[in-house]
Amino acid sequence: MSTARPARILVVFGTRPEAIKLFPVIHALKADSRFECVVCVSAQHRQMLDQVLEIAGIVPDHDLDVMQPDQTLDALTANLLTGLGRVMDAVQPARVIVQGDTATAMAGALAAYYRKVPVDHVEAGLRSFNIYHPWPEEVNRKIIGAMASLHFAPTTTSEAALLRENVPAGRVHVTGNTVIDALHWVTAQIGRDPALASGLAELEARFAGRRIIGVTSHRRENFGEGMEQIARAVREIAQRPDVAVIFPVHLNPNVRKVMNAQLAGLENVALIEPLDYPHFARLLSIAEIMLTDSGGVQEEAPALGKPVLVMRETTERPEGVDAGTARLVGTDAARIVTELSTLLDDREAYEAMARAHNPFGDGQAASRIVELLAHEI
Ligand code: UD1
Ligand code: UDP
Repeated sequence: MSTARPARILVVFGTRPEAIKLFPVIHALKADSRFECVVCVSAQHRQMLDQVLEIAGIVPDHDLDVMQPDQTLDALTANLLTGLGRVMDAVQPARVIVQGDTATAMAGALAAYYRKVPVDHVEAGLRSFNIYHPWPEEVNRKIIGAMASLHFAPTTTSEAALLRENVPAGRVHVTGNTVIDALHWVTAQIGRDPALASGLAELEARFAGRRIIGVTSHRRENFGEGMEQIARAVREIAQRPDVAVIFPVHLNPNVRKVMNAQLAGLENVALIEPLDYPHFARLLSIAEIMLTDSGGVQEEAPALGKPVLVMRETTERPEGVDAGTARLVGTDAARIVTELSTLLDDREAYEAMARAHNPFGDGQAASRIVELLAHEI
């Protein structure tokens, strides 16, 4: 039996998607005696983060509670850097893990680098090659990539992007995306306890017989005119009596004010609060089509064979498009309505997209990541 002390790993995150994509890693680290897993949340998101923590059974060891209403990128980043630095000084981790491309991930990586603590990057190497789409995530991800010790690339496409940037091959590992682990986990939880996802029953009864379109939207580069166009498209498609829209509205005020102004009161459009992960998984399963600008939803939909129309000009996740399950449609209202109408009216076009693929992984990413970390301690 080894008497070595477990390696202290600090996992840092702050928003809903990071929490969803890191809980499988945290579960795996906590179950492994080679590691001591310390969890620090910045709470860049508050309610939407807490929804995930509760479902995943994670109680953070440190909570910076930084979220401010309608926060600016510079104030947020400054608070994150000083707050996360203080936590790192107190925790003295052997390594730090960050995920993806948020302000928290970027500041967490930078604070670790300032202390010469190795940073490991989950979901590394995604590139759109346009620094304003997604903004500011494309650059956040590149900044983290410049400092990371281990780069956990979800796919061979993201691995190739890192190798082209001269990251040493031995530091890049294709693991799959942990979002698929998370989706499998939550699906199993719902299988054991269907009540976890039964909260949409009333809405499902109200919309029985109609074809459900699930919508999410939150991208900063879509604020203003983009959000107006998205709302207009939803309004227009909702004129069809055979359609119903379920739209859990992101808590960002720049999203809510537009959606509430344009879509409130429409009989077949349900503007609802952000769903917890089991209920969002339920929405993914009952929706005929997903219309979104989300990163995570672009990864989940192909795994479930749900056609997803991506309201972006470009994507750092081309695998869903290549697999045929996702299509980039931008944010022009007329284009969105045309694409939705094609999927609704042309069975062949729909069937061509509605095939399950797993370009983003097999649900075993977290255990691969933990084994790779074990080689470093
Ligand atoms: C952030 C990330 C983005 C990620 C997205 C996932 C950055 C710069 N942006 O964008 O990469 O795709 O999260 O959703 O890191 N709010 C609440 N409660 C919440 C969450 C948000 O009220 O639980 C409101 C607050 O007014 C907050 C605002 O939303 O100021 C914006 O939050 P912020 O994290 O800055 O940006 P997001 O647009 O959510
Ligand atoms: N999601 C959720 N509830 C919702 C909307 C989304 O649990 O009401 C999940 C979704 O399944 C995905 C993640 O949140 O895993 C995506 O988060 P978001 O779109 O906020 O961020 P992005 O992925 O674009 O960074």
